[in-house]
Amino acid sequence: MDEWMPSSADAEAQARAGRLWSDASRNAVNRLVRCLFAERLLEPDALLWARDGNQAWLPLWQSRRVLHFTDLRRAPAGTLQNRGSVEILDEIGARYRIGGPSDLIRQVAPALAISPASDGVEHLIRDVEDSMRNDILARRHREHWSAELRGKVAEAGVQGFLAYLEKSLPPHLAAMTLDQWGALEGHPFYPTWKAKPDLSPEDVAALSPEFGARVRVRIAALRKEWSYVEKMPHVGSYSEWFSQNFPELWRDWAEGLHKRGKSREDWLPLPVHSWHLDNFLRREFASEISSGVFDPDGPEAMTLPSMSFRTMLPDTEEPRPFIKLPVAIWMTSEQRTLQAKSIHMGPRLSTLISDILSKERDLSERLEIFTEDLGAILHHPVTGDEHPGRFLSVVYRNCDALARNDGLLPVTVAALLTANPIDGRPLICELIARSGDESEAAVSAFFRVYVGTVIRPTLAMYLLYGIAFEAHQQNSTILFDETGRPRKLLIRDFGDGRSFAPLFKERGYHLKPFTRTGILPTTFDDNISLVRSFVIDACFVCHLHEVALCLDQHYPLSGTSLWRILREEAEAVFDALRPRMLSDAFWQEERKAFLEKPWPSRSVLRMHLERYRDYRVEHELPNPLAGAE
Ligand SMILES: Nc1ncnc2c1ncn2[C@@H]1O[C@H](COP(=O)(O)OP(=O)(O)O)[C@@H](O)[C@H]1O
Ligand SMILES: [Mg+2]
Repeated sequence: MDEWMPSSADAEAQARAGRLWSDASRNAVNRLVRCLFAERLLEPDALLWARDGNQAWLPLWQSRRVLHFTDLRRAPAGTLQNRGSVEILDEIGARYRIGGPSDLIRQVAPALAISPASDGVEHLIRDVEDSMRNDILARRHREHWSAELRGKVAEAGVQGFLAYLEKSLPPHLAAMTLDQWGALEGHPFYPTWKAKPDLSPEDVAALSPEFGARVRVRIAALRKEWSYVEKMPHVGSYSEWFSQNFPELWRDWAEGLHKRGKSREDWLPLPVHSWHLDNFLRREFASEISSGVFDPDGPEAMTLPSMSFRTMLPDTEEPRPFIKLPVAIWMTSEQRTLQAKSIHMGPRLSTLISDILSKERDLSERLEIFTEDLGAILHHPVTGDEHPGRFLSVVYRNCDALARNDGLLPVTVAALLTANPIDGRPLICELIARSGDESEAAVSAFFRVYVGTVIRPTLAMYLLYGIAFEAHQQNSTILFDETGRPRKLLIRDFGDGRSFAPLFKERGYHLKPFTRTGILPTTFDDNISLVRSFVIDACFVCHLHEVALCLDQHYPLSGTSLWRILREEAEAVFDALRPRMLSDAFWQEERKAFLEKPWPSRSVLRMHLERYRDYRVEHELPNPLAGAE
């Protein structure tokens, strides 16, 4: 072969790299376009549409230019889906194609309806470019992982990816493999969906769930009198619970302390993420280490990072609790610390919800939760300060719900919308196909059951008890039976959960709120609207709306409106709960808020541009259920 000719393998690799880059760039542009119009940073009503409906122009008067979208689709909830290219026409008629997200951001920056922070635009560009880099890495990895899985599924001679996982792994590890698989796409529309600007590409691949990572967790030690522990009532002491749930680690940890001349009576085992230990704690907590408050030595456990990156499941044949940890890494929209509020409120809300479920038979047949059994945080023995503890804390999450013996398969919702390694369709299609029928009627029937599975328990908890689940794609898991039918909802993540006290108090329940200056409250007494918008944004906008869009895209549903089905199911839940509501006026008002009025949603792009000076900015989306036919 001529040496100076590029080999066909090189050419192929180059073509693949080019394709991955342009896919990531398109992904970023599409997310930006959706958010710019949804949040009205650009005015959707100022778009001029072509007669055929899919081309649109937006004049940018300030710069005397026009944005031209060659293929822009209008979906319910005012969602604009960019499917083509975006061009700029200037004042002398020249036209050029937007080359990528940074180009688009610079072009629209002068026309935005808000004033970004002084470095807001540059930060956005940096985080979007970082997301693209990580998106490319993840999809390159995914090509290999998919090929490997296709081989294994064929070898096992089973019908489909899900069946293969169920057959080859214990239930909790099958569920976790799906959770990691589903981490590929990230949040459905965040423009900085994969941003981890503090991490090198090597670390991103070594630590992130979408790479099937295995990560070491160090069982370090924290002086008992420097800790605050919060636990559910069934938990005895922290050490007792730890020794029962992680017997081998406990033994090695206690032996290690003993060898270092320390008494285990004075210390608590404190798990620490290995990246966080090496890249943050050793430097920033050097004085706690040297003064004997925190001992960074100890045994290690191999874990699987779940979709959230920092909640870790021990990689053991026997299921062990999840370990949720702080990591001083900026991801998507914030530094992923684990603050005092989460430590205090996770176990308290888990207790409240468990108490309610023990008395609500119907609800408990539809809903399970990952209880947050206990948590611990660095706590100053004199001042009581827990602020530095946001970097030195832990919450343990019971994983019994994954260790099933009823044949139900837990699938994290984001995984349902992620491509199947076998045929590239979203995994949800494999579940629908299990019934042997993928007709329009079957898909509609599936969606109806799916919606009911999600909203019955979510709305019951909210309307009857004022407890809001953040039921988005990463916090919600659906339990499916062997025919692919959704059976139950499984919810996680209560540390930031919002609640409205008058409702659960009226029904005889209590929750000790967490109040501290500088920390936004999550238990509300006067106004339910922030509790409601938490439910609407997470469960309806980020979750059900996305499932509907996905099914609409993958099945020819000419005679069916999924939005009508969503509306009918929501109406049915409201009707069923009506007799149990505290007042009919409240029922009317809530029904209107979910079914008629605009839906509040978090302004993720605006908050990024404003550098998160306010974490609670919302905008309104047209309600897709209002008049859904
Ligand atoms: N589909 C998704 N929707 C929302 N967040 C997602 C999604 N996929 C991944 N994530 C990531 O999950 C993280 C949030 O997890 P977090 O709530 O802190 O942990 P946990 O749910 O385990 O308590 C964020 O980094 C976010 O980017
Ligand atoms: Mg979460």
